Amino acid sequence: MQAKIDEIADGIYRMSVHVADIAPPAGFTYNHFLLRAEEPMLFHCGLRAMFPPLREALGKLVPIERLRWLGFGHVEADECGAMNAWLASAPDAQVAHGQTACMVSVNDLADRAPRVLSDGETIDLGGKRVRYIDTPHVPHGWDAGVLYEETTGTLLCGDLFAHVGNGAAVTDGDVVGPAIAAEQMFRYTSLGPSTAPNIRKLAALAPRTLALMHGASYRGDGARALHALADYFDGELRAAMSRAA
Ligand SMILES: [Fe+2]
Ligand SMILES: [Fe+2]
Repeated sequence: MQAKIDEIADGIYRMSVHVADIAPPAGFTYNHFLLRAEEPMLFHCGLRAMFPPLREALGKLVPIERLRWLGFGHVEADECGAMNAWLASAPDAQVAHGQTACMVSVNDLADRAPRVLSDGETIDLGGKRVRYIDTPHVPHGWDAGVLYEETTGTLLCGDLFAHVGNGAAVTDGDVVGPAIAAEQMFRYTSLGPSTAPNIRKLAALAPRTLALMHGASYRGDGARALHALADYFDGELRAAMSRAA
C-alpha cells in the first residue's frame, strides 16, 4: 500500500491511497490532505491500516513532529481511525472539530483533548487559514463538518462528491456526474430537508478547488458544482416525498 502525493492547490497536498477491490474494476481512492503552513494541518487522519504509508508520505512534506492540527469531516474509520496514531507521533498535534463532534465522540475517542470550533470559527495556521463549517447530516453524520482554506479558496469537502476510480489528482472536468453515479451505487447520503440547503451554504463560499476524500479533486467553478449537486438532492427528496404521498 502506497500513498501518492500531488499538490492540488498552493501548499495543499493530496496523499492518495487507491484500493482496487472496492467498486471494482474502478477501485476507490482514500485521500488525505496536508496543508503546509507554519502550523501544518492534516485533514482526514485515515484508516488505521493506512497509517504506515501515510506517515511515510507526510514525512516527505513536513517533519511529522511538526504536525500541529488534525481535522476530519465526521467520525468514521476512514476519517479518523488513525487519529490517535498521529497524536502519538506528533507531540503538539491536536484534533480540531466542531462542537457536536467533540461533545458526541472526539472528547472521548481522542487521546488528547480537542480544540472545539464553533460554526464559522477560523484557525490561522500561519500562511494558511481554515474556517470550520457545520454541515450536520451532510452527507452523513450529525457531527459532520467541512473546512474551507481561505487563502487558496479550497473547500476540504470530505465525502461530498465522492466517486470511484483512480484518475488524475485534479480535474477540471465534470465531478457532479461521477458523484451522482457513486451516490446511486452506495446510497451514502442521509437525504433530508437540510441536505440541499447545507450544500448551497457551501456554494456561497465560491470555492476554486474542491478537495475530495474519494476521487479526483476539482478545480473550477466550485459554486456551480455545489449547486448542481444540491439540485440533484432536491430532486431526490421531491421524488421520495411524492412516493410517500
Ligand atoms: Fe463518511
Ligand atoms: Fe469517506
